[in-house]
Amino acid sequence: MDARPEITVVADPAAIADEAAQHILDAATAAIVERGRFMIALAGGATPRATYQRLALPPFAYRMPWDRTWVFFGDERAVGPEHPESNYRMAFDALLSKVPLPPGQVLRIRGEAEDPEVAASDYARQMAEVFGTRRGEVPRFDVILLGLGVDGHTASLFPGSPALKEIFRTVAAVHAAAAALPTRLTLTFPVITAAAEVVFLVYGAEKAKVVKAVLVDGAMLPAAMARPADGRLRWILDRAAASLLPVDPPPSRTRPG
Ligand code: 6PG
Repeated sequence: MDARPEITVVADPAAIADEAAQHILDAATAAIVERGRFMIALAGGATPRATYQRLALPPFAYRMPWDRTWVFFGDERAVGPEHPESNYRMAFDALLSKVPLPPGQVLRIRGEAEDPEVAASDYARQMAEVFGTRRGEVPRFDVILLGLGVDGHTASLFPGSPALKEIFRTVAAVHAAAAALPTRLTLTFPVITAAAEVVFLVYGAEKAKVVKAVLVDGAMLPAAMARPADGRLRWILDRAAASLLPVDPPPSRTRPG
């Protein structure tokens, strides 16, 4: 049964970073007790940067179980790791270069690959190896972080994309004409749906309309389809992004701020 979204509204982007960092620490701690390791897929774009920076600072920097954490990416643009638009580069600068993650435990999507289809298959194979999944099985992340585009896309799953219909492959190469960097690689819905937890991080008034479309109006947008079949769905919003939600948002928490 699809998870009902748990909506947390906080004061501002800095409060999102605090709430998200604490949530990631809690999820990591629980995952390690239950399974001995923590598997997370990071979101790209600008929104999660502050959360990654927060995780690189005390107390999270020394409380996170980095030695048993494995970091993947929800999507990547078709650029190399040094490129200013690379999601890996953003996470590396904000977090990965600052914490003692064993290098083999950060799985980068090779956006620079000559053939994005090959890069997608390679990443799917790497993911399967690390998760120990067999053919036809889907890796179950402990946490998949996602952002939200004003058009309702998430990861690199854009409205109208053939990738929305992917039911077998775990990673797809897509051509998102609407995106500044149209060629992208993305986790697919089978992986998102299999996750133990999906956490959206969204801030800013420019996202208010699409947040309402997804959370209230039931618009069939990619972000509305990104929900675990058997897990937890959280939306952590700032007041500006939540400004068009009903005054008493669906059951969850509104943090004073
Ligand atoms: C990307 C992300 C994308 C992002 C949204 C929101 O590669 O850009 O995967 O889905 O999360 O576009 O981006 P902002 O956080 O920059 O608003």
